[in-house]
Amino acid sequence: MDHFQYANGELCAEAVPIRQIADDIGTPFYCYSTATLERHYQVFADAVSGLDATICYAVKANGNIGVIATLARLGAGADVVSVGEMKRALTGGVPASKIVFSGVGKTADEMAAALKAGVLQINVESEQELETLSQVAASLGAEAAIAIRANPDVDALTHEKIATGKSENKFGVDWDAVPGLYAQARDLAGIRVAGIAVHIGSQILDLEPFRQAYGLIAGLVETLRADGHDIERVDLGGGLGIPYEHETPPTPEEYGAMVQSIVGDLGCRIFFEPGRLIAGNAGILVTRVINIKKGVARNFAIVDAAMNDLMRPTLYNAHHAIWPVTEPPVGAEEMEIEVVGPICETGDTFGKPRLLPELEAGDLVCVRTAGAYGAVMASTYNARPLVPEVMVNDKAYAVVRDRITVDDMLAREQLPDWLQG
Ligand code: LLP
Repeated sequence: MDHFQYANGELCAEAVPIRQIADDIGTPFYCYSTATLERHYQVFADAVSGLDATICYAVKANGNIGVIATLARLGAGADVVSVGEMKRALTGGVPASKIVFSGVGKTADEMAAALKAGVLQINVESEQELETLSQVAASLGAEAAIAIRANPDVDALTHEKIATGKSENKFGVDWDAVPGLYAQARDLAGIRVAGIAVHIGSQILDLEPFRQAYGLIAGLVETLRADGHDIERVDLGGGLGIPYEHETPPTPEEYGAMVQSIVGDLGCRIFFEPGRLIAGNAGILVTRVINIKKGVARNFAIVDAAMNDLMRPTLYNAHHAIWPVTEPPVGAEEMEIEVVGPICETGDTFGKPRLLPELEAGDLVCVRTAGAYGAVMASTYNARPLVPEVMVNDKAYAVVRDRITVDDMLAREQLPDWLQG
């Protein structure tokens, strides 16, 4: 459930008409709903409340500091994969003691920064990384609390680009090598084994892959304990899917009950890293129709947002619902039309043709379910500046990231000596 609904014929974010924001700041822009973020966090928290659970919001889904601060106030920790995300989490008010540092390729500098900040845990993805972390921690006189990310070789049954739990994926430590790596970790300076981690992918619509992976992890916890390791924490990653179109993902309650039944008796603190589930339906991308182009084979609504603003349709063939900002009257005639951006590629589309009411130049439309992996994945292709992000809270709204201008972009470039003058 989200808080983007029509009221008095106009699409509103909570109690703020989208048109008002568009009139104030121009288009395109991302708009996030506080009430939706809070609701999603709370529903998930309630679903895992029977466990000693820590919810580390996956900052990669939406790293805006307004979003992070909203969740931090509810008690969320953060899962970060770069120093940049760590700084965002800290700026948004997440204490270092609730930050898990993940990621398949941490540099020594990033490890040092994470240790200096005092993050709760670093998830290790390879033997090489463990050795580097040991050296970095020892040189700082610090101790890194670690979890080793195990690769359970489980098919998450999701889009191939976002499946991470198969042995052919770059993530985690091969299952059979995990016990040996824990044995190594025990003797390494600057390393303290705290737990084990797994994350099998994103937009997972079936409980079965989770059940398989978590069952394997529970077994591994017993093995590692028998080997004398103190496994106090189990990090189960994120990945629970959300409805974009007609999907029916498991509910957080079903997911929570499944987790409880598998790891509930291990006596561990359980970490979750949801991203999409919290932010996905809490954001929309608002855009204005530049032109309607009627062709022989197809009709197009060319809008002022493009694939650089929201990559998901072209990158993953992802479906995002598109709604007109003015509510269509009941029974209004619809036309089949493809909503596309102005970028010079056929891939610059918001998806297959849709049935939409008659649109004309100047109309506002929104691309829904764009709160996760939307603004964070944007680029400046075609010299298109990053668009602003807005947060709504009941009747109030605030710009939480300004529009970047072309001049801002140009100010960061300079001609080499030999081309000056
Ligand atoms: N934890 C780890 C270690 C991850 O790699 C991810 C996502 C998450 C948690 C959060 O997963 P979530 O709950 O959001 O599914 N750009 C893609 C999604 C990439 C997900 C990467 N990892 C998309 O737009 O679909």
